[in-house]
Amino acid sequence: MAENIVFIGGGNMARSLIGGLLQAQHPQQNLFVVDPNTQARQLLRSQFDIAIESTAEKVLSQADVVLLAVKPQVLKEVCVELAPIFKQRPCLVISIVAGIKLSSINHWLGGDYPIVRVMPNTPALIGEGASGLYANPKVSEKQKEIAQNIVSAVGTTVWVSSEKLLNVVTALSGSGPAYHFYFMEIMIRWATAAGLPENIAKTLTLNTAKGAALMALSNDMEVDELRRQVTSKGGTTEAALKSLESENLERLLSRALEAANQRADQLAKELGESQ
Ligand SMILES: NC(=O)c1ccc[n+]([C@@H]2O[C@H](COP(=O)([O-])OP(=O)(O)OC[C@H]3O[C@@H](n4cnc5c(N)ncnc54)[C@H](OP(=O)(O)O)[C@@H]3O)[C@@H](O)[C@H]2O)c1
Repeated sequence: MAENIVFIGGGNMARSLIGGLLQAQHPQQNLFVVDPNTQARQLLRSQFDIAIESTAEKVLSQADVVLLAVKPQVLKEVCVELAPIFKQRPCLVISIVAGIKLSSINHWLGGDYPIVRVMPNTPALIGEGASGLYANPKVSEKQKEIAQNIVSAVGTTVWVSSEKLLNVVTALSGSGPAYHFYFMEIMIRWATAAGLPENIAKTLTLNTAKGAALMALSNDMEVDELRRQVTSKGGTTEAALKSLESENLERLLSRALEAANQRADQLAKELGESQ
């Protein structure tokens, strides 16, 4: 039988997950959302025929899974409010809230509950996300499977072996879309300056990124091998790559990723320090 999933917070991410779950045939009567924001509830009602409430009391007693999808700044208040109701019916908690550690969530909920922390990214909003998941030792294999099935509704999932590695996931795929957008911006700007109409530069840039990603995903070859295959000796690609190497792009990008990793660590400390 399908699990009852209660979403706490019915914003962008919750709507994407609900849409994905319904598409994956999760029964609508097993999905519940709690959001005090009237506009958020109206938007949800216009999209889905599921139970939508302004407070948690009524629905939490039926939950098999509670999915925390609020902004980091309000998570403490939300957990403290849920704690007494949660005590009556402990269940699996899934948190997609960026940066907040499992120990903080457990502390605020007032227990030692099974929690899965998820680091999704923005393409999840169109069902093409890449999410890293970490489970605390209280999470059973069955619960891991449940969590994975839920998050898979908005894209690809991977498990990491320590919570700290979620910071690496944040630096890589969490912030990753922005690095790719930045690359695209630069390519479009250069091509426009070199004479192509902007709409054409954009079409070519975006579809090149899409094609390269799809090719790498559908191919057994490693990405460095794919790169070598399109780099003929003395050709245009080689000229461009040599220029990137001479500017030490690898060092630049590695330093950028490390900066994001360290910032994720710092934010986790700041956001959780109110425990
Ligand atoms: N969007 C992404 O691509 C993305 C990527 C990675 C991680 N995340 C994480 O996912 C979480 C949700 O992001 P989002 O983009 O979906 O945020 P969002 O659109 O702002 O949705 C959060 C919703 O929760 C509501 N809320 C506030 N207090 C609440 C309470 N006490 N109980 C229940 N609901 C409450 C908010 O109402 P108000 O607007 O009135 O406060 C809002 O409707 C965040 O923690 C974010 O870090 C998002």
